[in-house]
Amino acid sequence: MKKDILNKKDIEKLVNLFYDKVKKDNTIGHFFSGNFNMEKHLEIMYKFWENIVFYTGSYNGNPMDKHFEVHAKTPLSKKDFQKWTKLFNESVDELYIGEKADLIKLKASNIAAVMQMQILKG
Ligand code: HEM
Repeated sequence: MKKDILNKKDIEKLVNLFYDKVKKDNTIGHFFSGNFNMEKHLEIMYKFWENIVFYTGSYNGNPMDKHFEVHAKTPLSKKDFQKWTKLFNESVDELYIGEKADLIKLKASNIAAVMQMQILKG
């Protein structure tokens, strides 16, 4: 039976599954290929999501700026954001059910919507 997201280990499992899907994905996989340092990225993402779900204060970066940089190198599109959100929700639903699972999906969708609006408005 599925359970809710309870701790850091659960976040790590979710992030790992999500990036397994992302890497194989035809639409957004290329953003994470070549000499992209996935190991380092995963460590950052564990902290980012842990902070969102458990308010640990473990992340203090600026994702918005980072994605403006990504977009400047390789343009992001609406389709990319849609695929990112779909794969994220699928990953959560494959592993978890409950309040925190709902929360992380809501936060992901909200951040993706704001990010897309900011980046694609021009
Ligand atoms: C079109 C969808 C997206 C693509 C293709 C994408 C791609 C990337 C890439 C390539 C990086 C690494 C940048 C670098 O290290 O130079 C990155 C970092 C990151 N992404 Fe995304 N991203 C997307 C959407 C999102 C969304 C919706 C969120 C949050 C809900 C998010 C959260 C982050 C965070 C927290 C980092 C790390 C920033 C840091 O270094 O502090 N991304 N993303």
